[in-house]
Amino acid sequence: MKESPISYSSNILNTTQVGNKSVVEFDLGELNRDDKTVESFGEEWLKFNRFTEEEINSIGDEYFDIVPKELLQPSTVALDAGCGSGRWSRYLAPKVGWVEAIDPSKAIYAAASQNNDLDNIRFSKADINDLPFNDESFDFVFSLGVLHHIPDTEMALSALSRQLKSGGHLLLYLYYSLDNRGILYRSIFQLSNLIRFIICRMPGPIKRLLCDLIAIVLYLPFVALSALLRSIGLKSLSKKIPLHYYLGKSWFVIRNDALDRFGTPLEQRFSRLEIESMLKRNGFENIVFSPNMPYWHVLAKKK
Ligand SMILES: C[S@@+](CC[C@H](N)C(=O)[O-])C[C@H]1O[C@@H](n2cnc3c(N)ncnc32)[C@H](O)[C@@H]1O
Repeated sequence: MKESPISYSSNILNTTQVGNKSVVEFDLGELNRDDKTVESFGEEWLKFNRFTEEEINSIGDEYFDIVPKELLQPSTVALDAGCGSGRWSRYLAPKVGWVEAIDPSKAIYAAASQNNDLDNIRFSKADINDLPFNDESFDFVFSLGVLHHIPDTEMALSALSRQLKSGGHLLLYLYYSLDNRGILYRSIFQLSNLIRFIICRMPGPIKRLLCDLIAIVLYLPFVALSALLRSIGLKSLSKKIPLHYYLGKSWFVIRNDALDRFGTPLEQRFSRLEIESMLKRNGFENIVFSPNMPYWHVLAKKK
C-alpha cells in the first residue's frame, strides 16, 4: 500500500476498516449540506456500486473528454470531491499518482470496498465545505454530479478552488438548466420535476421501487424510440429525443440514474453562462465546456 503524498490538516474522529482500506472519518460540520440528500445518496450508492470496468471506462471517457492527457501524469495528485461509489476515482487512479476520495455519506464505505484492489486511492468521510487538507494541495480536482446537490453551490465551488494549486485544473459536472433545449423538452422536464418532488419524499424501498418503474415506463420507451430513429437513418432526430443519452447504456446504469434523478431531495440546475460566471468569480480561467453530454461538464484552470 502506497502512502498518500498529502497529510491531513484536521483531527481524525474515527477510522473504519473496509477490507484492506481504512476510511478516515472527520467532523462533517454543519455548513452548507443537505443531510436528507446525503442520506439518500448513502443508501443509493450502497445498493448501486457494481459498475463493470467497461462501463466505468466508457462513461468516464465521456466526462473526461475535455481533459488533455498531459494534465494526468504519474506526479498528479487529484481530489474526487463527492466520490459516491468511487467509480471515477477508479477510472482516474491508473492515470495519475494519487487520488484522495471524499464523501460525507455512507457511500464512502462502498467506494473503499469497490476500490480495495487499488493502492493509490485514500478514502475520507468528509464534507466539501470542510475538507481535511491544506489549501493548494491538489493539481487536479474533479467533482462530478455533486455541487448541484449542495444548498450553496458557489460556496462549495469556492472551497474546491482553495484546494487547487495555482495553475491546477478543475473538472466539474453540474446539471444543466436545459438552456440548449427547446420548449417541448423543457416542458417534459417540468413535469418530471413535479414527479421527483413527490417521489424523493418517500421511504427508501418505495422510492427505489417507483424509480425502477419510471426507468421501465419512461426511460426505456424514450431510449427505444431514439434507437428506432437512429436505425432508420434519422440520427440527428434521434438525438433530440429526451433521454437519448442512455442509448447503449446498461439497465443497471439507467436504473441508477433514474434513482439519482427522481429520488434526490435537493437538485439545482445551471445554465452554461451561470457556470462560467461562477467559475470566473472563483478565480478560474481557460474555461472549456464539453460540446457533448452529459451537460454541462467543464474544465477550468485556477489562475
Ligand atoms: C450524484 S452523487 C455523485 C457521486 C459521484 N461523483 C459519481 O458521479 O458517481 C452526489 C454525491 O455528492 C455527495 N455530497 C452531497 N453533499 C455533499 C457535500 N456537502 N460534500 C461532499 N459531498 C457531498 C453525496 O453524498 C453523493 O455521493
